[in-house]
Amino acid sequence: MTNRELSPIDRLLAGANNALRTIAAPAGHTARDNPAIAIDESDLNTSERSHAAGLMRVNHAGEVAAQALYQGHATVARDKNIEQQMQHAAAEEFDHLAWCEQRIQELGERPSRLSPVWYAGAYAIGAASGLLGDKWSLGFIAETERQVCAHLDSHLDGLPADDARSRAIVEKMRDEEAEHGENAILAGAAELPGPVKKLMRFAAKLMTKTAYWV
Ligand SMILES: [Fe+2]
Ligand SMILES: [Fe+2]
Repeated sequence: MTNRELSPIDRLLAGANNALRTIAAPAGHTARDNPAIAIDESDLNTSERSHAAGLMRVNHAGEVAAQALYQGHATVARDKNIEQQMQHAAAEEFDHLAWCEQRIQELGERPSRLSPVWYAGAYAIGAASGLLGDKWSLGFIAETERQVCAHLDSHLDGLPADDARSRAIVEKMRDEEAEHGENAILAGAAELPGPVKKLMRFAAKLMTKTAYWV
């Protein structure tokens, strides 16, 4: 990223490029190696493979939403440092997205068919909360990442015990989501009202329940 001021058209094109890269392109080159790179494939039975693929599809859908949220927040961020922090997190989220997609393919399945829906919904929520101001935008990120960490912990409980490749990816993601949340708090996140947190949990549940199957 250069230091040049981006015009509204530049931002629009960059946003459209990111949306296409996230929902329409296969996982390409990642900035960092897949955490499962040195781990041997385990001998999973059919139902274990299908369950692991369902959970990784949910995680992939979450990463599609994370891309959209961070892009939505970054587009309307007022403070340049906060915008850069969000772009940095979005770059890590892109690696998560690609690692999940690679794992789903290894398990013989495909990502959620509803990726465009997850992206559009999360982008709108990200931009809308960002318009309220950076401290609310950061508050939204801190709460999202807190909920994502809890969700990833539940997947570490739910993944087949022998599926070390999926586990390595989910563990790395969980550590980085925690860091994203801590960074948002350090940057001045406001604590969201209880009903908003509840609504976020409801929306996340709807997405995760659907993406496991579709
Ligand atoms: Fe992530
Ligand atoms: Fe994150």
